[in-house]
Amino acid sequence: MSARVGILISGRGSNMVALVQAMIAGEVEAEPVLIVCNVPGAPGLEKAAALGVPTAVADHRDFPSREDHDRRLVELFREAEADWICLAGYMRMLSPGFLAAFKDRILNIHPALLPSFPGLQAQQRALEWGVKVTGVTVHFVDEELDHGPILVQRPVEVREEDTVEDLEARILETEHKAYPEALALAVSGRVRIEGRRARVDPPGPSVK
Ligand code: GRF
Repeated sequence: MSARVGILISGRGSNMVALVQAMIAGEVEAEPVLIVCNVPGAPGLEKAAALGVPTAVADHRDFPSREDHDRRLVELFREAEADWICLAGYMRMLSPGFLAAFKDRILNIHPALLPSFPGLQAQQRALEWGVKVTGVTVHFVDEELDHGPILVQRPVEVREEDTVEDLEARILETEHKAYPEALALAVSGRVRIEGRRARVDPPGPSVK
């Protein structure tokens, strides 16, 4: 039976689109079952609907606490029978309750080579720092920001003439390849988490 994937977004949703398209194309053996967004009217919602994937909005401002909001998210994903969750530009931390409900089955994508440049504006900070290589990280989510075991990393070159926009665009292109690859690997059953390490067994590439 193929994996059932729920995706959490807050905005543009381009990584969500890349994931959904890869699943629809059969490049990832999984089914996108529900897209949940915490921001009403976010552009990603229309994109998800256009791809024929069910959507739901759970506005965090309608809930008294993060725990209450996250309980609703768990309820929505359980109703959709999701067994994996991908964060794709979801701009909030998850509570312990959510993490426990999908233990070791939550992925996030970050636009830098973690542990460098966690948090917001990672691309701009990499450029300002003067690194020659930055990149993309897909990792399992734990209770700390941009912190859990790393599943896939891809380098992106920083060019002499790059503006922040140039670098963001080049990183985003890499994100759109790395995230489906990481999801394919995750749902393949070949990944085992040992402490900080996500071990792939047998070693090798993830995509067909
Ligand atoms: C991406 O750069 C992702 O790495 C970060 O937030 C951005 C989301 O973009 N976590 P999009 O909504 O997927 O287009």
